[in-house]
This record gives sequence, structure tokens and C-alpha cells, in this order.
Amino acid sequence: MIELETQLQNEQQVALENLQQLESPEALDAWKQTYLGKASLVMTTYGKMGTFSKEERPIIGRAVNAIKLALEAALSEKEVLVKRDALLKTMESERLDVTLPGFPVKRGRMHPVNLSLREIYRIFGDMGFQVYNSPEVETDDMNFTYLNIPPYHPARDMWDTFYTEKEGVVLRTHTSPGQIHAMREYFPNPVRVILPGACMRYEQQDQSHEIEFMQFELLVVDKGITFANLKGTMDDFTKRMFGAGAYTRLRPSHFPFTEPSAELDMSCIFCGGQGCGVCHGTGWIELGGCGMVHPYVLQNGGYDPEIYSGFAAGVGIDRTTLLRYQIDDIRYLRNNDIRFLEQF
Ligand code: DAH
Repeated sequence: MIELETQLQNEQQVALENLQQLESPEALDAWKQTYLGKASLVMTTYGKMGTFSKEERPIIGRAVNAIKLALEAALSEKEVLVKRDALLKTMESERLDVTLPGFPVKRGRMHPVNLSLREIYRIFGDMGFQVYNSPEVETDDMNFTYLNIPPYHPARDMWDTFYTEKEGVVLRTHTSPGQIHAMREYFPNPVRVILPGACMRYEQQDQSHEIEFMQFELLVVDKGITFANLKGTMDDFTKRMFGAGAYTRLRPSHFPFTEPSAELDMSCIFCGGQGCGVCHGTGWIELGGCGMVHPYVLQNGGYDPEIYSGFAAGVGIDRTTLLRYQIDDIRYLRNNDIRFLEQF
């Protein structure tokens, strides 16, 4: 028996000595397996307890308990140290140098269409116009019928429309339906608004056609608004946007929602009206449509055409942008090429 006791004591000494050398959590696991695992001297001694005599049992029991407790205590103490060392090591090896220069952040910039739009807001803001936003998805009635374009009327052919699967709902083909929204909201007060935003048309895309493009609509409704107000406003806008040298003309045209209607042309800013490639030798560049609001449209907005009159205009912002920055293909505006966008 003395022998087993001595054996156990030796075991404790060796185990504790070994433990001092260990440095990693894995090594600690292995140590635990060796000295406290199923096959260890300590655990097998417990298993053999029944084979000892009555007198021996308490002596051996006390000894083995003491060793087990001593080993467990030493292990948990060592575990704390090993964990702390491991942490210190990673802190040392993965140290962050906060003084190193960072990666440069690429700064975005304003899209040329938005640059134009801001300029347009500024110009019309100076003239007392308010920005009025209206939906990009419209009912057929708003986009067409209330604007004097009844169902099945050939005038609808002027707009290549995206119809949705929902009966009577379309992607707006122009900002003109905003006229109805604005009038209904402002009635019976005077209206002086600019309606900007995206429009969609089912078109063959090319240099000057996109299925999505930006327009702004102007709408002025009050007592005594005349064609002279329209002409003065459009001429003033053109000069402020493209320079004092630009002059305008109104060319008779047709739109269902205006009467009379006109196309707004600007003298070619590239050749000063002499005729060049950009203006196809005509000396004129088309900016948009305009006219006096049709009585039927005024009525749909709630205004009595016997008392009120108004003018409206619709101008493409993308094309205005092309002219402003001399860009020769409308598709550059939306294909997200950073080399293009960085030039503005
Ligand atoms: N809505 C027309 C279009 O997109 C443009 C337009 C023409 C708007 C004449 C108007 C206008 O307000 O008076 O083709």
C-alpha cells in the first residue's frame, strides 16, 4: 500500500513539473488527458477502491482525493496564464498602426443631368416657380385622357407607352400629367410650378433616344396669362441657361393639351445660327414643346377656362444636358461609366 501512496505522490510531482513547461491550450488538454483522464493513475485508483482493505481504503482515498484536487487547481491556474499569454501574443503580432495612411476614399460627384436640373431650378426659382413632384407611375387617365388624348385617339401614337399588367396603369410618358395633379391641389389659387422627373417611353434606343429620360414641365395658371408670358418666360430661361447670345423662336406645332401649341427653338449655340453639323445646317436647335393650356385641361384641373388661362411647356433635361456639355450620345448619361462621369 505504501507503494501506491508513494506512486501517487510521485505522479503528483511529475504532473506539476510537466504542467509548468506547457504553453498552449492544446498542450493543457493533453496534460489533462494524461493525469486526470480515464486511464490516469488517479482515475484508475478510484476504480480499484473496492479491492482495498477496510483499513487501506480511507488512507488511499484521502491521498488520491488530495492529488486530484491539487492537479485540478494547478490546471485551472495554468489555464488562466496560458490564455492571457495567447492574448498578449496576438495583440503583439496583430498590432494596428493607426498612424499608417488609410486607403483613399473615392469621392463621387454630381451627375451632369442633376447639375443641369439644379441650374434649371435656380433659374425658375428666381422667376418665382415652385418645384412640384408628381408620380412616375400614372393612370392612363392622367397620362392621356385628362390631357385631351382620349382612348383610341391617334394622338396617343405620339407616346410609345409602357403599359403595366394592371389595367389602366402606365409608366408616365411625359411630365404633363403633373399639370392635373398640381391644378387640383392649387385650385382656386394661381399656379406657377416646375414639374421635374423621369419619364419612360418604349423606344428604340439610339444616340438621341433613351427609354428613360428626364423632363421638366412648366405650368402657370392665373387670370390674364397670355402667350406673351409664355414667350417671355421661355426666352428668359434660354438666355439664362445657355448664355445671353442665345435667342429663341416659337414655331407653330400641335399638342392635344395646348391650344395654340408651339415648338421652342433656340439659335444654335455652336455656330451662332449660321448652320453647322449639330443643328443640321438649320441654325436652330429644338428645346421642347409649349403652348396655352387647353380649356379642356384647365377644366380637368378644376379651373374655369372662361376666367382663367395658363401656359405650359415641356423640355427634355437630358437633351439640355447634352447641349450644355456638348455630349454627343444620350446613352453616356446612364451607362454608369466612371470615366465619363468624372469629367463633370
Ligand atoms: N408632354 C410633351 C411631350 O413629352 C411635351 C410638351 C409639349 C409639354 C407641349 C407641354 C406642352 O406642357 O405645352 O412630348
